Amino acid sequence: MSLTNKNILLGIGGGIAAYKSAELVRRLKDCGANVRVVMSQGAQAFITPLTLQALSGHPVATDLLDPAAEAAMGHIELARWADLVIIAPATANLLARVNAGMADELITTSCLATDAPVVVCPAMNQQMYQNQATQDNLQQLQDKGITVWGPGIGSQACGETGPGRLLEADEITQRANDFFSPKLLEKINILLTAGPTREAIDPVRYISNHSSGKMGFALAKAAYDLGANVTLVSGPVNLNTPQGITRIDVDSAAQMQAAVMEQINEQDIFIGCAAVADYRVTEVADNKIKKTTDADTMTLKLIKNPDILASVSQLKNKPFTVGFAAETQDVIHYAKEKLIRKNLDMIAANDVSQAELGFNADNNALCVLWHEGQHMLPATDKYTLAKQLLSLIAQRRRNGST
Ligand code: PMT
Repeated sequence: MSLTNKNILLGIGGGIAAYKSAELVRRLKDCGANVRVVMSQGAQAFITPLTLQALSGHPVATDLLDPAAEAAMGHIELARWADLVIIAPATANLLARVNAGMADELITTSCLATDAPVVVCPAMNQQMYQNQATQDNLQQLQDKGITVWGPGIGSQACGETGPGRLLEADEITQRANDFFSPKLLEKINILLTAGPTREAIDPVRYISNHSSGKMGFALAKAAYDLGANVTLVSGPVNLNTPQGITRIDVDSAAQMQAAVMEQINEQDIFIGCAAVADYRVTEVADNKIKKTTDADTMTLKLIKNPDILASVSQLKNKPFTVGFAAETQDVIHYAKEKLIRKNLDMIAANDVSQAELGFNADNNALCVLWHEGQHMLPATDKYTLAKQLLSLIAQRRRNGST
């Protein structure tokens, strides 16, 4: 078990879900972890320190200024001792306070004082969870490198239904175990393209498409979570950079190609998820093109853009090269043709004929093809799909498909 002898500092916030923390301590200990517990004042109204002491086998820390506790394992030592800090339940108040960097009680102080990874498991009323202030706090915590597990969706102690349930003890334990397990893409270098490109017509107009970058950014986040070193070359999108990722912003296909070729030599895997414009205008006007009164039509002369994916797959020492094929008809046929013509190791055929999948949607489905086989990945959210695609890539790469 990956949790054997791992030191877990469990912070328990003041919510009704605090009762589940007792079970969590047991599950973590069953898996071989050493668990020490820190409780907020509010948490002690729901469950007693004595219960947690009996289950963890250690005194429970409840007070920042407790001479007896400081004489044994002080709060700074506790923070240093931890291999992983888990806050479960993390109430709306606790999330806000961790985000603000408060140091007036033990849980938030431990988060500040530790260099171990910190995980928060939100649990609160669904309306409080969906409130913009809570969502902003969660986003900012993730931007600071704090991991969020959950919440679950379902019926709540307050009688309402929605997102805000604390994950079950088994699920938190499984995630903690996965956290310490060797990762599928550990130390693998992955270069990705995402989003659209913009091909200028004049200083104020351009040719582009509806790619939001969500699929490519989900792949970047999933690859990082699976242990990879990720470089993301992104066209113009309105998305935050996922934690831990090197991002290079570009506008045009030519700029995207230059950025990719500059990075490509160090890469083990290349994934072309960007919707690159196939053509650009032959001559970009220096000034805004004026509407004329003498004609109702105008003609733009276009020239082919470089094919970034094909340039990568032609390299002598090419990385494992994966393309996407966004199609509205004969999807598999066209994807197979691209797999062969562009000399790829794998291609993800993306049917973009339905508005709720593919371009600018939160969900997607893919049919993944390689030279000897294919595998369907049914519709789901883009992060889950990204993990599934990366797992297939890791398998095929291990089987020596390059
Ligand atoms: O960004 P989202 O809103 O989340 O949408 C995701 C997506 C639909 C854009 C994505 O899943 C997808 O399918 N991306 C590929 C879109 C595309 O342009 O497909 P294509 O069939 O035109 O191109 C085939 C492959 O060649 C792609 O890997 C593309 O990145 C690459 N290409 C294309 C042209 C070019 N000049 N250079 C390239 O590298």
